[in-house]
Amino acid sequence: MSRNISVIGLGHVGLCTAVCLADRPNKVKAFEIDESKMKLIGEGVSPFYEPQLEMLLRKTIREGNLQVISGIEKAILGSDISFVTVGTPILPDGKLDTSFIRACGEQIGKALQKKESFHLIVVKSTVVPGSTERVVKPILERHSGKKAGTDFGLVFNPEFLREGSAIHDILHPSRIIIGEYDEHSGETLETFYEEFHRERIQVLRTNLATAEMIKYASNALLATKISFINEMANICERLSERVDVVEVAQAIGMDPRIGPHFLQAGLGWGGSCFPKDITALITFSEKMGYNPRILEAVVLVNLEQTKRAVDIVKEEMGNLKGKKISILGLSFKPNTDDVRNAPSLRIIERLIHEGAEVCVYDPAALNNTRRVFGTKIKYFPSLAECIDNADSCILVTEWEEFKKLSPEDYIRSMRNPFLFDGRRIYKADEFSARIKFLAVGLSKMRSKT
Ligand code: UGA
Repeated sequence: MSRNISVIGLGHVGLCTAVCLADRPNKVKAFEIDESKMKLIGEGVSPFYEPQLEMLLRKTIREGNLQVISGIEKAILGSDISFVTVGTPILPDGKLDTSFIRACGEQIGKALQKKESFHLIVVKSTVVPGSTERVVKPILERHSGKKAGTDFGLVFNPEFLREGSAIHDILHPSRIIIGEYDEHSGETLETFYEEFHRERIQVLRTNLATAEMIKYASNALLATKISFINEMANICERLSERVDVVEVAQAIGMDPRIGPHFLQAGLGWGGSCFPKDITALITFSEKMGYNPRILEAVVLVNLEQTKRAVDIVKEEMGNLKGKKISILGLSFKPNTDDVRNAPSLRIIERLIHEGAEVCVYDPAALNNTRRVFGTKIKYFPSLAECIDNADSCILVTEWEEFKKLSPEDYIRSMRNPFLFDGRRIYKADEFSARIKFLAVGLSKMRSKT
């Protein structure tokens, strides 16, 4: 059954949600406050890179199922369900900036005043527990003159999609969490998802604040797993026997109580979600009078993990002044052009500070990195040009393209082949037999020098 839906806020979650909903095929009205973004989207161009997104955007616009709309009122009046996906950035004091969600709640409220039929508001923006009920609901009620739960519906429905596989994650969710203000609202969204998904889905219905907490707890545990395995990696690296964290992770992951995912040691987690959400959860928790020691350690281990990459290169090469160091991969993970809080940024900053000549390459994130560092570093359009004549390479993001390289590719190009594999994509024995090779979580089997 095709439904009339609106999506408000076309960032990563909003735009990917809008195209997926429109492709199945609902009539979707999409609104974004940033006019330049809105113009691009209306022309079928995605403002950011995400596999399959642009193809679906063009298709759904062409088929007339996705319409970019110039005002919230039109979006609300032309739909029965609204997904609110506006940003909730973090403020310098660690609290969430809810100004966008409050401003859009006001507009939605005013539009609801003009509606006769039942309208369901689905909040997807990440907000700290209690916010949908204590911040969003009063704004909606004040500006609509209506009552949540009777005149309009209200739910909090967290999003668990990952950048780089957003479309897949929306279409095949591991679970759908519906935090409901009232039973009818929850029921309405559950029925909608049952119709939308063409496979069996797990749905858990709960209250608003629990659903808000579930979102934070999920990201916090995932980040904890990564910091934990990075800590194990740091211990492995110091052992004199040959111990490899990759083998350790594989073995512990076989235990169903632990599970194999998110145990890839590397240079730390980044992106627009984990850093923001964990900081917000720490601040929120402290405000409630609880000091979340585990989360603080998770953040600290993560920051130090990035620093270690430069320390290790320095230990091997001594003074880095004037040395040509190539950074392979800039985005916070593969298949995205997003460099927000990417470990690469912190590594580059330190290398600049050490006086190194920093050369960078990434299949998608060069432009975004240029916006951060300008002329302070050198950008290369290909991997081969980036590593040409380099004194050392640090592999920061595990793009597929890098996995195809052999030791010979590095030997052929580099002045002094020394590679630090920060994401464990290479076979350590093969590489260390041919070049000077170090890797995260691998005890020092000193290799060819
Ligand atoms: C994360 C969550 O995985 C999503 O479920 C959630 O919806 C999203 O945040 C959000 O809150 O919006 P995302 O930030 O796109 O998704 O990226 P992840 O795939 O989770 O990776 C985060 C970081 O952890 C990356 O820097 C990645 O390189 C790192 N990572 C991940 C590791 O270092 N090791 C691993 O084993 C896995």
